[in-house]
Amino acid sequence: MALIQPHGGKLVNGYAGHNASELKTIAAVHSKTVTLTRKQLCDAELLLNGAFSPLTTFMSEADYTSVLHDMRLSDGTVWPMPICLDVTSEFADSIQMGERIALRDHEGLLIALLQVNEKFKADKTREAELVFGTTSTAHPAVAAMQEEGEVYLSGELLGVEAPAHYDFTHIRRTPYEVRAEFEEKGWDRIVAFQTRNPMHRAHYELTHRAMEDHGLNLLVHPVVGVTKPGDIDYYTRTRCYEHVMHNYPEDTAMLSLLPLAMRMGGPREALWHAIIRKNYGCTHFIVGRDHAGPGKDENGKDFYGPYDAQELVNKYADEIGITMIPFKEMLYVPEKDLYVPRDEAGKLQSESISGTAFRKMLAEGGHIPAWFSFPEVLKELRKTMKPLHERGFTVFFTGLSGSGKSTVANALLNKFMEMGGRSVTLLDGDIVRTHLSSELGFSKEHREINITRIGFVASEITKAGGIALCAPIAPYASTRRTVRDMISSVGGFLEVHISTPLEICEKRDRKGLYAKARAGIIKNFTGISDPYEVPTSPELSIDTSGMQPDEAAEQIVLKLQKMGYILGGAGTHAEAEEKATEQA
Ligand code: PPS
Repeated sequence: MALIQPHGGKLVNGYAGHNASELKTIAAVHSKTVTLTRKQLCDAELLLNGAFSPLTTFMSEADYTSVLHDMRLSDGTVWPMPICLDVTSEFADSIQMGERIALRDHEGLLIALLQVNEKFKADKTREAELVFGTTSTAHPAVAAMQEEGEVYLSGELLGVEAPAHYDFTHIRRTPYEVRAEFEEKGWDRIVAFQTRNPMHRAHYELTHRAMEDHGLNLLVHPVVGVTKPGDIDYYTRTRCYEHVMHNYPEDTAMLSLLPLAMRMGGPREALWHAIIRKNYGCTHFIVGRDHAGPGKDENGKDFYGPYDAQELVNKYADEIGITMIPFKEMLYVPEKDLYVPRDEAGKLQSESISGTAFRKMLAEGGHIPAWFSFPEVLKELRKTMKPLHERGFTVFFTGLSGSGKSTVANALLNKFMEMGGRSVTLLDGDIVRTHLSSELGFSKEHREINITRIGFVASEITKAGGIALCAPIAPYASTRRTVRDMISSVGGFLEVHISTPLEICEKRDRKGLYAKARAGIIKNFTGISDPYEVPTSPELSIDTSGMQPDEAAEQIVLKLQKMGYILGGAGTHAEAEEKATEQA
């Protein structure tokens, strides 16, 4: 019995051959620090532990260019994905060739030193076009790239300490550890199953069939690093996987977590995943047609179109020495109480539940048929994915000074208090400026900081299941977008534009501020001497010139009922679920 050779013939160990405690001393006294992003931290972990063999460090320009154009390293080895360390131009300029820089996690733990011997400009447009087939920022990796540094660094990578993990430590295994376990168990034909979603019966049946048909053991190898924005958190998913594992025959399957930063790179990513699994000792790899798919583009089209992940992996399968097993869509056949692949179902009556339909069922707290999943998995998912009426949400008011934001927010606060059930917090513009942002003024920069702080607090309240009511002016669309993104990933978000016209606000002038602004006593006053960007697609727009605060609050309650966040409406929850799905 012999395990498959790692990619490139030798499993990399980035911790060997140097003295970690000496490096710690060098780093503490002499080194400039790069605080690694989540993606960089995942990449560093897998470079150092051998999962990215034969890579020993972040790519040089020669490897980067070769990978972009030919899916090969400069020495010809197949490798489809750039693995680069991005930094800002200023930081790159401050470094001398040969200098050792410290790579640390966000808590300051020293992960590695990089002895820099190359810095080169990232060609982000080419990279996006060649790797992801698009420059559209609707692709999550292309969007993320915009936030990254402009210069890539390479050099010798000297591992000091593996990134700290405090969760699921019993199933976080390195390639060395997985290989050792395979050897101990006497397994040498192993199929890897990659996933970033919970596993249900269809996944179980599919993997079980692959094991039976090809005489294989199974490595369930879910990604717990960076996955697609909106995915179910990996803690919940891992609890689900642990339940599913009990269904496989004893000693035939193993679960191990992979701290990979996915790029949603479709076919190229599928090939990369196969190579990684080979490094973990697997001989077979299950690939779906839309493997690591990024979702749809802004026109609702698939990013990779007919370009097929299975075909690409198959094309290189012989060369890399791993067998591709196609992920066939599994359908449930009630008549036989069995799952069969779609192409074998023929005329048999069959059933399936799409991902969107399943999310909707969970969101509504409705019945989910027993054939779809395992009871323990559903229990875990229901614990995390509470029905919408039990989840937190934020109502974010925006509008001119004097438009009525605070009055309506107050009326709404009282309605929620009357209903009870969730804690309610009002983050009114004036309150926030007294307690949270007392040092800030009204420049564009300060307003942005102010709104981002409000967004942060509201997102924490929402995440904890409460209701946050925010009522700042929030004059800039981009900051409102940031807040929306922050909150939508943890709960409900409803933007209410209080659209009372400027003339009315000015006529009301309760605080006398408009008069002062007109007289030039107050500078940069929104609507008079400072911009207000009118929201283009708020969930609600309310003009309070001809409406009582109570009526306005009532409209918001109705909207929330329709979205499903409050019980009692005639709504179908469809709107909120559509939104949640869009955001996912
Ligand atoms: S922002 O732009 O969202 O950060 O503003 P916000 O925190 O909501 O603060 C707005 C309240 O501050 C008072 N005020 C001003 N508003 C606008 N522009 C200028 N220059 C300004 N100076 C003071 C004003 O009372 C606002 O309160 P509201 O409740 O909106 O009337």
